[in-house]
Amino acid sequence: MKSSLLNFKLLYCINHNERNYPLRLDILIEDPENKNECVEGFLVCPECKSQYPILSGIAIIVKDIISYASQRLSIFGKWYSNSKSEEMKNYLKNLSSRLNKNSQDEDRYEIDSRYFQSYKWLHNENFESDKFLHLLRWKIKPSDVYRKLTSGIHYEPEGLALDLGCALGLSTIELSNKFSFVFGIDSSFSFMVEAKKKAGEAGITNVEYIVCDILNLPFKNLRFDLIFGLNIVEFLPIEKLLPIISNLLKPHSFFVTTTPYDYNREKVYNPDLNDRTLRSTIEKSGFEITIKTKKESYIPWILKINERTYLFYFLDLIEARKVSKHKY
Ligand SMILES: C[S@@+](CC[C@H](N)C(=O)[O-])C[C@H]1O[C@@H](n2cnc3c(N)ncnc32)[C@H](O)[C@@H]1O
Ligand SMILES: [Zn+2]
Repeated sequence: MKSSLLNFKLLYCINHNERNYPLRLDILIEDPENKNECVEGFLVCPECKSQYPILSGIAIIVKDIISYASQRLSIFGKWYSNSKSEEMKNYLKNLSSRLNKNSQDEDRYEIDSRYFQSYKWLHNENFESDKFLHLLRWKIKPSDVYRKLTSGIHYEPEGLALDLGCALGLSTIELSNKFSFVFGIDSSFSFMVEAKKKAGEAGITNVEYIVCDILNLPFKNLRFDLIFGLNIVEFLPIEKLLPIISNLLKPHSFFVTTTPYDYNREKVYNPDLNDRTLRSTIEKSGFEITIKTKKESYIPWILKINERTYLFYFLDLIEARKVSKHKY
């Protein structure tokens, strides 16, 4: 994580509703080739003294680290073996004794799980030899959808953007071309590590990837000039999600979302949403939908599950401008 970020007071302790305590950075290990990069350390709240670990350069700002790690025991093992400082080893050792070792709930977006490879495929790895794309005679790459979705976004060289549930950060990288800085957040630690690696390989320096929960973000209200939330509405209660997004946005700023309305998956919310009800719910939450996205759209999006299985979706795109001064 970039140490210089802390100078801008953008990250706050999630234990206080008003988000009035900016986190402090305690660096344990720096990247020897980039002194601005904290590889291992803690973000610390000056008020309640909560510690949020930074591992492999990724900050993990979650309310309940024991429950988070218990759902990812194999990832926890890697945290321990990859950690370099004595202080981090001790912290993790202490955490280890409190983990629920019987938890079955491995996150499906972590490395080795069902969807990790599917999202890697979106980075166009081996796409020339892909049998399905060949069959469709596609001339486009799997990642092109993210360029298309950001093509209408205004260039805001001073602006700050947020990409919710960003997975491997394809949309985050597109947004980094239009904004001064972008936060990509996701609950999957493996996604954030891989997204950070991809951004580094592409020489992109104005993004930061953080593990956190969309429903409990470490940001202050009225901070963002744009929020993306692509293909996440099925996984979150919409009545909680929309007020959070509205509060984080500056007045007149945009929320952009897509969804395939696929409720045929594990652990979904809002099964009644469709193109009309989603639009009216967004409008009732203090947004105005842009004229060009008032009607439902059919944007192709493919996920490769394995060599012989693909999910072909049509996404509906909604761009909504915050119009209310709503304070929830
Ligand atoms: C269907 S994927 C969409 C990924 C990406 N936005 C895209 O369109 O390619 C949903 C993502 O949301 C993340 N996610 C789901 N619930 C979350 C939560 N409560 N907090 C943070 N991330 C969450 C998942 O880890 C996953 O990466
Ligand atoms: Zn605190």
